[in-house]
Amino acid sequence: MFQGLRSILNKVKLGEREVLLILSHLLKESPSQVLLRENFPPEILQRLKEFERKRLEGYPLQYLLGEWEFYGRVFKVKEGVFIPRPETEILVEVALKVIKEKDFKVGAEVGGGTGCISITLLLERQNLRMFVSEINDKALELMEENAKMHGVNSRLYLKRGEYLKPFKNLKFDFIVSNPPYIPKDDWEKLPKEVKREGYSSLIGGEDGLEFYKEAKKFLGSNLKKGGFALFEINPKHSKTLRELFKDFKAQILKDYEGRDRFILIWNT
Ligand SMILES: C[S@@+](CC[C@H](N)C(=O)[O-])C[C@H]1O[C@@H](n2cnc3c(N)ncnc32)[C@H](O)[C@@H]1O
Repeated sequence: MFQGLRSILNKVKLGEREVLLILSHLLKESPSQVLLRENFPPEILQRLKEFERKRLEGYPLQYLLGEWEFYGRVFKVKEGVFIPRPETEILVEVALKVIKEKDFKVGAEVGGGTGCISITLLLERQNLRMFVSEINDKALELMEENAKMHGVNSRLYLKRGEYLKPFKNLKFDFIVSNPPYIPKDDWEKLPKEVKREGYSSLIGGEDGLEFYKEAKKFLGSNLKKGGFALFEINPKHSKTLRELFKDFKAQILKDYEGRDRFILIWNT
């Protein structure tokens, strides 16, 4: 490792990757530029120390940076809104494959959060329009900012409301969601750091299955014939969800670690 970064690492109690990301953010330089630096201005070390203090108190790195990468692009993030996760990139990948094959043009998402899923789909498909619901005002605001930043706001229809209730008269080619799926009683057991993402981001009712039970109803009214739904799931729920959607043609898909992580449902 280069001497500059080595000397900084000796002065803080954070891992190398985190320090690199923080320095890259503070200096507005790429991580490789940071790695090549021989010296760091003293005020940067001071600011790094402030970041370190908050990190050691359990504040998420993503919120400190105010942005996070998803599918190779940067999205603004803020406390109270769910932080994009790498496994959700698989959901985007699978959805895109089918959208391209079928040339689907109108999709919906329940619970947009930062907007990372819908905005990415819109950036990857120029003729697509997305209708997104969200119940968290902070998320709605942030999603709008992210959509403007990525120049897709004219094709993103955002509405405050539950499930697909704001779009109850519309039918979609596909519906995606990474819904909250943690059972209510587990809230207290969650790490403080995770709780900062907000109750509505994480808790899916009594048993964590509230969204899927509701989805079974709205698929019937909001999904076109021949269309698909793709939802992220808790691996522990895969058997129950297979059973719940047994009247549909449904398939469980895995994440990078080989865990059951998505359910793909067809309206045949
Ligand atoms: C796990 S987060 C996913 C956010 C984003 N789609 C992602 O993958 O990063 C779930 C999101 O759904 C929203 N949400 C929870 N219940 C909802 C409901 N009944 N209707 C609409 N949105 C909901 C939450 O506020 C939160 O932003």
